[in-house]
Amino acid sequence: MATTHHCLPMETSDPPTSDIANAVEQSLDKLGVRDAAGLEGLFARLEQRLRDDVGQVTTGGRGPEDIEQLRVRWLGRKQGLVRSITENWLRSAPAELKADVGKRLNALRGSAEEQIASIARQPTVDKWSQPLSEPVRQRPYSAAAPGAVEAAPVLAGELDITLPGTRRTIGVEHPIRRVIREITEIFLSLGYSVEEGPDIESAYYNFEALNIPEDHPARDDQDTFYVDPQTVLRTHTSPVQIRTMEKMQPPVRIIVPGRAFRHDAPDATHASMFHQVEGLAVDTHITFADLKGTLDYFLKAFFGPEVRTRFRPSFFPFTEPSAEVDISCIFCGGTAGCRICKYSGWIELLGCGMVDPALYSYVHYDPARYSGFAFGMGVERLAMLKYGVQDIQLFFQGDVRFLHQFR
Ligand code: PHE
Repeated sequence: MATTHHCLPMETSDPPTSDIANAVEQSLDKLGVRDAAGLEGLFARLEQRLRDDVGQVTTGGRGPEDIEQLRVRWLGRKQGLVRSITENWLRSAPAELKADVGKRLNALRGSAEEQIASIARQPTVDKWSQPLSEPVRQRPYSAAAPGAVEAAPVLAGELDITLPGTRRTIGVEHPIRRVIREITEIFLSLGYSVEEGPDIESAYYNFEALNIPEDHPARDDQDTFYVDPQTVLRTHTSPVQIRTMEKMQPPVRIIVPGRAFRHDAPDATHASMFHQVEGLAVDTHITFADLKGTLDYFLKAFFGPEVRTRFRPSFFPFTEPSAEVDISCIFCGGTAGCRICKYSGWIELLGCGMVDPALYSYVHYDPARYSGFAFGMGVERLAMLKYGVQDIQLFFQGDVRFLHQFR
């Protein structure tokens, strides 16, 4: 409850108005005020008193009854201070002061109304103790008066800025993007740069220049999506090896993340669209040892330092010699004790080899001077192994329950 003071600490130099609240009960004449300067002083005290009264209610965090009491004290129709001033100062004021008193009185009334209304709009103690279930009313935004638009609902108690806001769900980086980024970061740290090539590719780059002859089974339209006899959806990212060597002289160190397409029936490990990351390094004096070291480094960085790598002889038309790379099973630790590695202790991961010199004739590199290695890996396969995903289709279904697990 606000206590109603009737005495204010005032300067002793002004005894007749030492209590301004009492002063309003007397005429100006009695108060000895006969000029504008005297009025000025009186009204200044009133304004100060008003601010003090308002301040007490605001800082005291008082309830609606206190605000009402304040209003009655200042603006009450019967006993309010403004009313008393009208009765006791204005009515009996000498003619030459009347207009001045009236003007100052109006100003005082105005500021009393304004200040009291403003604290009435603020949330009070009583409001806080109510349950917070009432929905927050929001005002439409308006182009006018930006400051006012933001402040008004808060002042009016309509907007509780301490409540949590309406959250928008934030998306996550798709696991395939994420794995591509992880792979890329490792190779960037080794000094590789990133190249890209078209998804719709000529048979020349996809097959011919990669030493894949006309009658090779990889060209079979059982496996390859043909746009026309000379144009395919690329079946691997390897054509970018040729495109890069065509435009760039050694030393070449690139990786190529991108999409590849094969006419595969969808199952838990096959999809007709998937992703690969190709790698190519060509320079003087590049040997198979460089290839082994690079991939061993990469796979330890990607899967963890405990994995071991194994190179098995294999065949690709564009590499010679070629190899498949396995890692020790990350599920049973290479103990040959789990179904995922089929109790072999090893998981087959990617293809690689030394660039077949036949390719250099297509790009006009001197095979006597340069050597290089290349590798290609399936992004989905790496992602499935690293994140324990059982079905490749999950990557393409866009189910947020799956995707949100990669937060
Ligand atoms: N392009 C091959 C594939 O898709 C992978 C590979 C790339 C093998 C580079 C050797 C060198 O299977």
